[in-house]
Amino acid sequence: MSYYVTTPIYYVNAEPHLGHAYTTIAADIIARHMRERGEDVFFLTGTDEHGEPVALAAEREGIPPQELADRNAPRFQEMGERVEASNDFFIRTSDPRHAARVAEVMQRVYDNGHVYEGVYEGWYCPRCADFKTERELGPGHTCPIHEIPLEREREENWFFRLSAFEDDLKRLYAERPDFVVPDYRRNEALSFIERGLEDVSLSRPKLEWGMPLPWDPSQRMYVWFDALLNYYTALSFARDGEDLTDRYWPANRHVLGKDILKFHAVIWPALLIAAGLEPPRGMVIHGFLLMGEKKMSKSLGNVLDPTEVIDRFGADALRFYCFREVSFGRDGSVSAAGFEARYETELANDWGNLASRTLAMIERYRGGVVPDAEPDAELASGEDALAGVDGVVRELLDRAELTQALEAIWARVRRLNRYVEEARPWDLAKDDSQAARLEQVLYNLAEGIRVLALLLHPYMPETSGRLLDALAEGARELDAFGARGGGQAIERIPPLFPKLD
Ligand code: ME8
Ligand code: MG
Repeated sequence: MSYYVTTPIYYVNAEPHLGHAYTTIAADIIARHMRERGEDVFFLTGTDEHGEPVALAAEREGIPPQELADRNAPRFQEMGERVEASNDFFIRTSDPRHAARVAEVMQRVYDNGHVYEGVYEGWYCPRCADFKTERELGPGHTCPIHEIPLEREREENWFFRLSAFEDDLKRLYAERPDFVVPDYRRNEALSFIERGLEDVSLSRPKLEWGMPLPWDPSQRMYVWFDALLNYYTALSFARDGEDLTDRYWPANRHVLGKDILKFHAVIWPALLIAAGLEPPRGMVIHGFLLMGEKKMSKSLGNVLDPTEVIDRFGADALRFYCFREVSFGRDGSVSAAGFEARYETELANDWGNLASRTLAMIERYRGGVVPDAEPDAELASGEDALAGVDGVVRELLDRAELTQALEAIWARVRRLNRYVEEARPWDLAKDDSQAARLEQVLYNLAEGIRVLALLLHPYMPETSGRLLDALAEGARELDAFGARGGGQAIERIPPLFPKLD
């Protein structure tokens, strides 16, 4: 089955930072996991290059907005590569192929009668590129997100008749309980709809950096319409000479931060319905990484700089840390000190050491060949059983529980560590009468780390790939504990996560 997953397209007004990387990694984990399940995955990310946030930043630098976009878009592309994002395409909204398709869809919205001319009067945040309702204002007419005083705007605009879609949206939410996950974000979006929807501005007469409205070129399209449509337009030109729209639309999962919930969970499905298109099947909303915490760290300094972390510890360690430290969905703090602690105890000790020991013992005691034996009843059952862990992770990731799925895997990492300590293969090896038991223990360790490496692969593709290669596992498909027998020649490899000096 086809599976289409996206990230927001990031504004090119600033440099990419860990917050952007976080969303990209989350979507990448889902994309890679679904590929491991044999799905036909398309993973999209990109940059949002129009609108006021970009125009204002360019103006501050005294350069044309396109120049700013051309300079910054590649930085977002590089960020994706550095964090090992496996996206199938990178869309830039200044691409004329995007513009052509947007014009087509918006014309349909117009033709279907969902657009009218009116006067907008109210509060506008140029940093959000968002018109705020009275309810949404911070104290003293400020933006609650950017904490800046807002401008009172009065202008002739085209409006999108969002209010006409209240019932469609309510029906959508009722029919699909998992349209928005986690449920506390769903409830937030739904109560926004239930309080009653106001029509939204679709164009801005004063804006110069944006797409002209197809039916009234004197006005520029409000950037969010152009931006949201990227998810749809990209499919029509991501592959030369091929239109992927029928194959992948509607999207299965839009992954995004809570700051842009309203646009995605309310305006976006309404816009698609207005254009006669199918709304997405679902979206995943995460919280904010709080990066201001001033914990001292000897080696990394105060701030968790993703580039520095990747240079020194690799992208896998960063990917792991973000989803382990902060419960996905909620806000949470990340810090250099927290990173170092988890690197040392969990990656280097719990996992890296388990892998090294297993490979070393198979080499030392059985000439580097995985013995053929049966799964140990002790590991196959009970709490944190290795048997069935693939199903547990699958089910959690179906609900986009990225942190809980990782915890489920980690519980098994700890379980295998207890198993080695209890079974003491180094003692068994000294006693010939224990040869069969030794083989069983070595087999279970090899099979255990194989299954866990497959489950960890979406989170940590590079190191998991290396370990799977060392175990002579060529496939990258989820597999059950005990599904593979013995007989493979393994390879010793350097530590997956070398200790800090
Ligand atoms: O809103 N923690 O772009 P943007 C977690 N162009 N995630 C964070 C974060 C943080 N501290 N900071 C940013 C836009 N993000 C629009 C989107 S989509 C059709 C248009 C992530 O550059 C998070 O995913 O402001 C958030 O929703 C997104 O970056 C906002 O990126
Ligand atoms: Mg923003």
